[in-house]
Amino acid sequence: RSIKSLTASSSSHILRRGYASEAVPDRKVAVLGAAGGIGQPLALLMKLNPLVSSLALYDIANTPGVAADISHINTRSEVYGYSGEAELGKALEGADVVIIPAGVPRKPGMTRDDLFNINAGIVKGLCEAIAKHCPHALVNMISNPVNSTVPIAAEIFKKAGTYDPKRLFGVTTLDVVRAKTFYAGKGKVPVAEVNVPVVGGHAGITILPLFSQATPKANLSDAEITALTKRTQDGGTEVVEAKAGKGSATLSMAYAGAVFADACLKGLNGASDVVECSFVQSTITELPFFASKVRLGKNGVEEVLGLGPLSDYEKEGLEKLKPELQSSIEKGIKFASQ
Ligand code: NAD
Ligand code: LMR
Repeated sequence: RSIKSLTASSSSHILRRGYASEAVPDRKVAVLGAAGGIGQPLALLMKLNPLVSSLALYDIANTPGVAADISHINTRSEVYGYSGEAELGKALEGADVVIIPAGVPRKPGMTRDDLFNINAGIVKGLCEAIAKHCPHALVNMISNPVNSTVPIAAEIFKKAGTYDPKRLFGVTTLDVVRAKTFYAGKGKVPVAEVNVPVVGGHAGITILPLFSQATPKANLSDAEITALTKRTQDGGTEVVEAKAGKGSATLSMAYAGAVFADACLKGLNGASDVVECSFVQSTITELPFFASKVRLGKNGVEEVLGLGPLSDYEKEGLEKLKPELQSSIEKGIKFASQ
């Protein structure tokens, strides 16, 4: 059952007039997996984003409650809840950005790849529906293993004849968020000013933070850089262990997902110089997909930026991550082409 709050609708009407004069275009964002640990706080953060005019919350269950709850917040977007596969098409129709945090999370002792068997099928089904109902949307893939789910999505879109590499993104923003936080803490620099590119993929050693390019400069030893790199690579596991069987990062991920979706919306709306790291189709290494800095624009990816100068330690990390990342990409492609 679709939910549309009259309260949200009438207040957003007033707000919308304000926005219209500032020429903020209408944008629909769909969250698939919206009733989950990530989905709920991410839906909340998207409801707070003034660039969103329509927010579609889809899950296999429990979406009516989440949508009713969020819809009472007096911000611009109208909120609609969709529950069950029969409503997926309606949730997707007209979407500019689709964010996918649907799927199972890790428990202690598991790798992200251990989620493949369940999540690959979930992502496949959702991408088939995207190809049918909103083939031009920007797709923000959060479901793990991202190193495989993004190639799966690409193959599904290719099969449907809708694939546009500029519009498919693996969300690796949480790695950047962690790298910034850990670097600021260790380097004693103001966290709000920190920038650190994180490249490669989104699992263990495939996550490669480039602290040699971090700004502002902090005076850190090689041992400290090694420890920071390892902590960033193991950040997800740190949360999985702390949650002790109750799932993985949800709140920090919701924040990261909201940052990335906001960047996509700004790019779509024509803002200049919107740059975020993301796992995208790429030619900057020999791997077909790779995370690096990406310039976002009206069509999604405007430019995949290069790696920039690497330290010897980072060069070593780059060579080490390639075989694992390549095999995760191939696993995704193989699954989707079966
Ligand atoms: P969760 O179990 O709390 O929520 C997942 C939600 O997906 C549930 O509400 C479930 O009903 C829904 N779902 C399952 N199948 C679905 C389908 N076919 N269609 C729509 N919804 C469906 O899990 P979570 O903690 O929110 O994590 C979700 C995923 O995000 C996991 O795969 C996790 O590993 C991944 N994750 C990725 C990152 C990242 O940095 N990219 C970070 C954290 C978590
Ligand atoms: C993360 O980095 O927190 C996510 O990929 C979830 C996980 O399984 O670690």
